[in-house]
Amino acid sequence: QQLKLSLEQIEKGGYEHFMLKEIFEQPKSIHDTLRGRLLVEEGIIKMAGIWDNLERLNQAQKITIIACGTSWHAGLIGEYLIEEFARIPVEVEYASEFRYRNPIISEKDIVIAISQSGETADTMAAIKMAKEKGAFVYGICNVVDSSISRVTDAGSYTHAGPEIGVASTKAFTAQLTVLSLIALKLGKHNGHLSNQEFMRLITELDTIPQKVQEVLDTTHEITKEIAKNFVDAQNFLYLGRGYNFPAALEGALKLKEISYIHAEGYPAAEMKHGPIALIDENMPIVIIAPKKGHYDKIVSNVQEIKARKGKVIAVVNKGDTQVASVADYVIEFPETSECFSPIIASVPLQLLAYYIAVYRGANVDQPRNLAKSVTVE
Ligand code: G6P
Repeated sequence: QQLKLSLEQIEKGGYEHFMLKEIFEQPKSIHDTLRGRLLVEEGIIKMAGIWDNLERLNQAQKITIIACGTSWHAGLIGEYLIEEFARIPVEVEYASEFRYRNPIISEKDIVIAISQSGETADTMAAIKMAKEKGAFVYGICNVVDSSISRVTDAGSYTHAGPEIGVASTKAFTAQLTVLSLIALKLGKHNGHLSNQEFMRLITELDTIPQKVQEVLDTTHEITKEIAKNFVDAQNFLYLGRGYNFPAALEGALKLKEISYIHAEGYPAAEMKHGPIALIDENMPIVIIAPKKGHYDKIVSNVQEIKARKGKVIAVVNKGDTQVASVADYVIEFPETSECFSPIIASVPLQLLAYYIAVYRGANVDQPRNLAKSVTVE
């Protein structure tokens, strides 16, 4: 027993939990996912799985992304990325819904399956169905040689390394990294992305590991402090717009998974169609508001919340004054292109969920009722 304990200690590398270790590994896991693929000096993205099937991918009538849980959230951001840069229509579905509803899929379609474990039963069943309908299935998996990576027609691995914490962190940001690479590569080759724009975006993507390091260094202590104020919260609302709407969903999922506080993610503009009724002085609201991406609209959302006395935790770009001046708590992150901002903004949300759960005494790495890999229906 003692030997087992100390082995685990070594594996945690000095961190109290695997989750915290994995949050801190993100500069490296994103870098590893980009390595050998993003070649800025040569001005190319090298991905064999995409290159070998370029024509098929670029001629797709539509792309359907199927996934579960956190991977589904990555898929939603993938939709924004692929539609913006490659201009191919994308739909995102929960694998569990897709598999039971006779979806319209043909040989002209591409299905992208996203799975950290590569073993999720619903995703696996959805892939089988898509293949039976003749679709070309592309996998994005983290676990090498997993069932999904073997059954798909082609794919790209996320090089996040083993993820032990049940709540996914570094696998998520690695999925966003791969989806960014795919969208930019498709867009470059099908002509929807100019060379100049492609160069600007890949140069920015190359800085993401370093910006993630910066956000870890500058927000770790702050999120830990902010978390102390919300140990007894019963509800949380997470809001974002555009690319950061799925980031809000993922932030809320992290909190509910590990702290057992009810949390909901919403597109900020939809707040007026429901959640606004819940806002009072007891409702904490995390709002992701980078400078690039509907900033003025978000400012008015924050004002609406403050008028109802909600507690605002604003996740803003460094040096922000407008949102920061009305928010109750401020978390700053380095500026980047809107399309990459969820990769950076997600990190302090992971830390916030982590510390709230730790202060509540929850079993962060193995939350009740949840499994790392759901291999049964
Ligand atoms: C479980 C895990 C989640 C994960 C989901 C999908 O619910 O607890 O963290 O996002 O399965 O798993 P996958 O391995 O397919 O990404």
